[in-house]
Amino acid sequence: MTNVVNKNETYTGQVIDFTHEGHGVVKFDRFPIFVPNAIKDETIEFKVIKVKKQFAIGKLLTIKEKSQDRIEAPCEYYKECGGCQLQHLSYTAQLEMKKEQVVNLFQRKSHFEDTVINNTIGMENPWHYRNKSQIPVQKNRQGEIELGFYRQRSHTLVDINHCMIQDKKHDQIMNKLRTMLEQLNMNIYNEQKHKGELRHIILRSGYYTEDTMIIFVTNTKQLSHKNKIIDYITNEFENVVSIKHNINQEKSNVIMGKTSYTIYGKDTIEDQLAEYQFKISDTSFYQINPQQTEKLYNKALEYAQLDGEQTVIDAYCGIGTIGTYMSQKAKHVYGVEIVEEAIKNAEENAKINHVENATWEAGKAEDIILKWKKEGIKPEVVMVDPPRKGCDQTFIETLIELSPKRIVYISCNPATQVRDVEILKEAGYNLKEITPVDMFPHTTHVETVALIEKN
Ligand SMILES: C[S@@+](CC[C@H](N)C(=O)[O-])C[C@H]1O[C@@H](n2cnc3c(N)ncnc32)[C@H](O)[C@@H]1O
Repeated sequence: MTNVVNKNETYTGQVIDFTHEGHGVVKFDRFPIFVPNAIKDETIEFKVIKVKKQFAIGKLLTIKEKSQDRIEAPCEYYKECGGCQLQHLSYTAQLEMKKEQVVNLFQRKSHFEDTVINNTIGMENPWHYRNKSQIPVQKNRQGEIELGFYRQRSHTLVDINHCMIQDKKHDQIMNKLRTMLEQLNMNIYNEQKHKGELRHIILRSGYYTEDTMIIFVTNTKQLSHKNKIIDYITNEFENVVSIKHNINQEKSNVIMGKTSYTIYGKDTIEDQLAEYQFKISDTSFYQINPQQTEKLYNKALEYAQLDGEQTVIDAYCGIGTIGTYMSQKAKHVYGVEIVEEAIKNAEENAKINHVENATWEAGKAEDIILKWKKEGIKPEVVMVDPPRKGCDQTFIETLIELSPKRIVYISCNPATQVRDVEILKEAGYNLKEITPVDMFPHTTHVETVALIEKN
């Protein structure tokens, strides 16, 4: 069989679409060639570097006709660093592309033609939005300590001094910590050998408060130079209210281990969303873009259409943020979350925010929802916000048996969301409306909130 394209040969073609990874798609005889950095509507010259049965990969050589949406990426590390993928695309085009991906998934690949798909809700200033920086620490060949982010599809670091999407405070902390680690001659983890000590440094900050937490993740049970580290940080930084030591001895890509100790200050940091205060532990999930979180939750609340009479379930509730938002307009909120520490935060957060009509339970959503069903709890509205893999099959089955009038489904992975909504459709639910919200500007991640109603 002759190939449509051959490896190492050069071709010219028009980019007709984007993949979900933000790569341009050129098609010859319906055979797709994915070309990183190419933009829809551009005519490009590219070299084929890989040919597979179903697709090929191309390397962009020259742009013959440039898209109006192409811009100069403002970050000096953009070409090397794998943290952002879309800085060469204007922000307006990024928002359109994210909507287009939702349209593709729900209306072209599935059959939700009657669903209203709104424009992506973007940020006014889409920079420095990340309140959490997970920074790998490595030693380079010269023995120097590097802090930065991984190159695309690799585990080697780009040593960086600043990042345009993380909280500005984090640049300064990261740079000073690099100097501190050099001065202490810190033992750094070697991933290939699974030996050594310090693996990651995680910085978490409040957006509306100045609180910062620094977490040292080690492959060892001890954190060397602990007291010197605490002295250095407390002398250098005013707003660090908590320093943690987390132990991760697993040989895996998971960043944090299960055991954490507070080695200085508080166990939590605080942040504010709308008029509510939230305490956040190191192991608890908290949305990484608080400005957009308010817009996301407001949309979710609008979709929930509460008038004070409804019993509501907040499934996959984290530290109880959405549940707290809904409690003002609900009769009672039941929240469930798998991370026990997050449920402790949710209980404390309810007290701080004077929420008296909420019950929080730690456990798997699929188990607890079944227990609630057996106890006779009948929700009119269910809010779900699962991790990337989507909802568990048994969770959806119980949800269907509970038969709520309305389901509001927040997702950070529309591919699993569409799969789950298909099952709900079979069971008599109608996907009325979806709104993409840009929680992760300059990256290819798409977040959506969907309104699903019983027919
Ligand atoms: C995308 S986060 C949403 C959290 C929260 N709704 C928010 O907006 O901050 C998903 C949450 O689901 C939790 N989780 C993952 N698997 C779960 C399960 N099987 N049952 C309950 N919670 C789970 C995670 O720990 C995480 O807190």
